[in-house]
Amino acid sequence: MHFAVMAAEAIEWLAIQPESVILDATAGLGGHTAEIARRLRAGKVIANDRDPESLEMARRNTAEFADRICFHQGTFSDLAGALPACGTGKVNGLLADLGVSRYQLTDPARGFSFLTEGPLDMRMNQTTGMTAADLVNQYAEKAIADLIYQLGEERRARKIARAIVRARPIRSPLHLAGVVERAVPRTGRLHPATQTFMALRIAVNEEQKELDALLQAAPEVTASGGRIVIISFMSLEDRKVKEKFRSLGREDRATILTKHPIRPAEDEIRNNAASRSAKLRAIEMK
Ligand SMILES: C[S@@+](CC[C@H](N)C(=O)[O-])C[C@H]1O[C@@H](n2cnc3c(N)ncnc32)[C@H](O)[C@@H]1O
Repeated sequence: MHFAVMAAEAIEWLAIQPESVILDATAGLGGHTAEIARRLRAGKVIANDRDPESLEMARRNTAEFADRICFHQGTFSDLAGALPACGTGKVNGLLADLGVSRYQLTDPARGFSFLTEGPLDMRMNQTTGMTAADLVNQYAEKAIADLIYQLGEERRARKIARAIVRARPIRSPLHLAGVVERAVPRTGRLHPATQTFMALRIAVNEEQKELDALLQAAPEVTASGGRIVIISFMSLEDRKVKEKFRSLGREDRATILTKHPIRPAEDEIRNNAASRSAKLRAIEMK
């Protein structure tokens, strides 16, 4: 079963018209894409994702709306390219639901979950770039410590990096999780490797640079009166979104629609634990 996080809220804040052209920058498995397409008549959705496997699934999951969807494979850094590829100038709305999908997170072949024995990969697009295994097995101890500290906001980063370097070669997510668990004791409810895995995922996919590229491109590709809606799951990301939206407000280029971030309803959190840290922010371009 697939849940699109804050789907009703995303649709509401996008203020879709039947003829709108909406860019779903993170199509994933197509949950939001389908909900947007359902509300269109003459309009269309550009369904973008960097992960070719997810896009294939999105295509299957949205087959009933195929005539209204144009799929595009690319990162936020080449988001501007999605528009001409789909025969469009600017869009009337842009949605980004950041992070990884449930499929990416749970498929052992993708290497995101610390419970699996598969490859330690973590690339959202498995056809290109460095894997998490390359990173933990090749980087200097200090570089590993710095990235776990900065991207994972993990205070015990030095200890963890030392343990990783001593245990090389790291073979799998399960192996890495065990190494971290032996190096730093469990303190709360979270697995002690949670922040380390998050940091590696952010580094492997250059997620910070990508979010900057998204925040740069979004106001350029969205027409006047068009909405930009971003759902984020990590405080580092929400902070960047908030700051960018504020600066667009100050420059009088956009109206901030959500003074405070919108949170999922209690019902949704109960039914889908993955939604619990979601924060939605929206602006309208002037
Ligand atoms: C949380 S999932 C989206 C789920 C989707 N909204 C749905 O309803 O199925 C995030 C998706 O964004 C994609 N993604 C993350 N960062 C990206 C980037 N920089 N460029 C393009 N796609 C990205 C991931 O590959 C993933 O499929």
